[in-house]
Amino acid sequence: MSIKILGIESSCDDTSAAVVTDRVFKSNVIANQQVHKDYGGVVPELASRAHQQNIIPVVDQALQKAGINGNEVDAVAFTRGPGLLGSLLVGTSFAKGFALAHDIPLIEVNHLQAHILALFIKDESQSAEPKFPFLCLLVSGGHTQLVIVEDYLRMKIIGNTIDDAAGEAFDKCAKIMGLPYPGGPYVDKLARQGNPSRFSFNKPRVKGYNYSFSGLKTSFLYFVRDQLKNDPDFIAKNREDLAASLQKTIIEILLAKLKKAASDMNISQVALAGGVSANSGLREALTAEAGKRNWEVFIPRFSYTTDNAAMIAITGYFKYANREFSPDHITPLARMHF
Ligand code: KG4
Ligand code: ZN
Repeated sequence: MSIKILGIESSCDDTSAAVVTDRVFKSNVIANQQVHKDYGGVVPELASRAHQQNIIPVVDQALQKAGINGNEVDAVAFTRGPGLLGSLLVGTSFAKGFALAHDIPLIEVNHLQAHILALFIKDESQSAEPKFPFLCLLVSGGHTQLVIVEDYLRMKIIGNTIDDAAGEAFDKCAKIMGLPYPGGPYVDKLARQGNPSRFSFNKPRVKGYNYSFSGLKTSFLYFVRDQLKNDPDFIAKNREDLAASLQKTIIEILLAKLKKAASDMNISQVALAGGVSANSGLREALTAEAGKRNWEVFIPRFSYTTDNAAMIAITGYFKYANREFSPDHITPLARMHF
């Protein structure tokens, strides 16, 4: 018998619902919140209000697109954390209500683990899957981690950022350049037309497999500020080269530790996950590195890189298979480890 899982994601500013049947993608609906555009970042109170408005229509659409009704769902999986508490509360409360109303199991999901398990969603275009153990570079707006994935639900973090995440570095530097939030995709687009060797910025020296991005942001800020003193149009004239040079630096920082870990641990299965894995430069650089090092590289399909509920649903499926269910008094967690 096939198992139908409804996934709910509401950890930040995207309200999303998805359905998988076993490991097969059926639907994924995302409502992006436009209310934050004028603020240059996510405003938590506005985010939870928008989640409340979006959650019911988003779930309805996800069920409709999957061609099922609520009574056919076998379990509901939801993001318990990490994320914004007010946002998480909306998804958690909805999931609890849905589980209670349909008398089905409730399954808590760790958002970061779900980003990684997005690699295992089956659909028409998804091909090979990584074999265990593999090394995953998880790069998002809030996290930058090197993870050894031993099994679907057994993961070990070996490296972490000690300050900003890679996505934050993209977004904060993009803000300095006057680009909209989140700036990562804009930097990516501009970088394609720029010269990546034109400017150079500070790279961190951090121990082990850990990362740091706050120094790069400061170096970028001071450089741009100094240039603006001589030429008020500096940013406008050099947008592409600034973006390309910044992106190149972020990618070099990310790949240096990834290479070190893969070589120290003798791992040749390497994967990317999280919002920043949408970055075209990072995808290309990793693929090029794989050619040199005989790695087998796995990159999630573009639509599963940034926040989505399909990754929550697939994680729910693996937990369902293990009978890992949550009690109905469960509460969300702003910080959460796996
Ligand atoms: O995983 P995600 O959607 O949310 C979190 O869990 O944080 O990641 C969002 C982050 C943002 O910082 C955004 O700027 C970045 O992913 N991002 C990108 C690209 N697309 C999204 N960064 C660089 N290049 C992209 N193409
Ligand atoms: Zn995320």
